Amino acid sequence: MVLVSSLSVLPTLANDLSELEVKLQDSVIAEDKYLTEIASHLITAGGKRVRPGFTIASSGIETPKAVAASYDVLMGGVAVELVHLGSLYHDDVMDEAEMRRTVPSVNAIWGNLTAILAGDFLLARASGIAASLGTEVAELLAGTIGELCEGQILELQSTFKLDRNESSYERSISGKTASLLATACRIGGLTADLSRDNIDILTSFGHSYGMAFQIVDDILDLVSTDEQLGKPSGNDLMEGVYTLPVIFAFASNNGEELKELLGKEISVEERDHARNLIRASGGVSEALSRARLWTDKASAALNDLPPSESTEALGAATTHLIQRAATPVIN
Ligand code: IPE
Ligand code: IPE
Ligand code: MG
Ligand code: MG
Repeated sequence: MVLVSSLSVLPTLANDLSELEVKLQDSVIAEDKYLTEIASHLITAGGKRVRPGFTIASSGIETPKAVAASYDVLMGGVAVELVHLGSLYHDDVMDEAEMRRTVPSVNAIWGNLTAILAGDFLLARASGIAASLGTEVAELLAGTIGELCEGQILELQSTFKLDRNESSYERSISGKTASLLATACRIGGLTADLSRDNIDILTSFGHSYGMAFQIVDDILDLVSTDEQLGKPSGNDLMEGVYTLPVIFAFASNNGEELKELLGKEISVEERDHARNLIRASGGVSEALSRARLWTDKASAALNDLPPSESTEALGAATTHLIQRAATPVIN
């Protein structure tokens, strides 16, 4: 909840998000009660609502004092959260993750086949809402879903590869994460009918923020506990997903020892040993500096927007992001 609490320096956000919550719940009602239950599972479980929060905040940047978000803005926020949810249903199948948002994942309860179908259902509902908001929003969201798949496929192609490099990592996280954060902001701008210049700045802000967001998530996977995350920690190494701190660690003094250990399926003990090597290598701090470059870029984009309570809230969320990773960092 750290992120939204910093975005919530925006006085109208809490009300907007509670209205959005009702619309989000309604958006996944199916004729079949069983499907409704599965599709609602992670909505009721929680989540930070970062993406709809950004849609709402982005929509307000031309209004100095924040006002309640319009129906279209809220529905735009619902559509982006649904895409995020659908991608989480699928991601937990791919990553064989048993926990999400502090509760058992959909695949852990209902199995992979159901999780994939329910994820498809969420994406379908998102597409329907996007279409009701106009062809530009519909096309944008469809393109973003495509980018998500491209990012995830790139990641899959590099699993267990000891020679994964930074540029391959960047391309993957740009597709799987930054694209949706960019789109969350862009949809806020489009549904509020902002100037084209401001819409483009918001999109670039969202992209930079999203790059930092995924780097931070990848750092947390290495330095936090399951309880802190509400999802399995250390899972990236088990799944052979070698993220930025690991890529930096490969190039460090203990890189060779780490490479001996990784590149294949590992036990929990080997994972813990690898985590210690990575922490001791300086890879985590190096990745954190890289995240900082992206948040600096995000903050610089905000400087080109008109001053408003919403612009300020986006700035606060950006500053807060780095603190989220900096606190538990051991090295
Ligand atoms: C998790 O996103 C997936 C990533 C892109 C890292 P969030 O950290 O926004 O997850 P929720 O929505 O709060 O559960
Ligand atoms: C996030 O990927 C999922 C998408 C962006 C589609 P990760 O696998 O890195 O995220 P977590 O750590 O499971 O939330
Ligand atoms: Mg995952
Ligand atoms: Mg994943």
